[in-house]
Amino acid sequence: MISPKMADSLNKHMNLELFSAHLYLPMSSCANELGLKGAATWFLVQYQEEMIHFMKFYRYLVDQGINVTITASKAVPNKYKTLLEMFEKTLVHEQLITTCINELTEQAVKEKDHASQIFLQWFVTEQIEEENNDRDIIAKLKLVGSNGHGVLMVDNELGQRVFVAVPGATVPIQVM
Ligand code: FEO
Repeated sequence: MISPKMADSLNKHMNLELFSAHLYLPMSSCANELGLKGAATWFLVQYQEEMIHFMKFYRYLVDQGINVTITASKAVPNKYKTLLEMFEKTLVHEQLITTCINELTEQAVKEKDHASQIFLQWFVTEQIEEENNDRDIIAKLKLVGSNGHGVLMVDNELGQRVFVAVPGATVPIQVM
């Protein structure tokens, strides 16, 4: 059993994870348009991971007997000038998600909601990885600057990313 207040906060965050997926999918198509196939793959995998995060919240809320609310997603940009701009925006967004996850955890602790605390722990750890990945890529992109060859090398590395299913989470859709 979770409190209506906790359910409402988790529901809001579930929608933010869905927004994250919507944010990253056009980054993939924009990277593709820029000829950066590796980055297009990276952001597509990121989209898939965000859908998993969304589904984790959905599953948790439904398993707690909550009828979820899906709010309309706001429009997201689909034009970026450089890969560096995309990853800088990605890092800022992930820092926002980290703040939200931390606030949810604090609320769960305050309410002595042990189940939600345990549920949120996975996301606390996940956010460290999310931010760290973005920082690494930003550092590499800053090192190569506007050198086309360097950007293509980073792009090639980004293309190695593969989607790994998370145990216990359902992939809602299969892309590609
Ligand atoms: Fe689901 Fe990237 O936070």
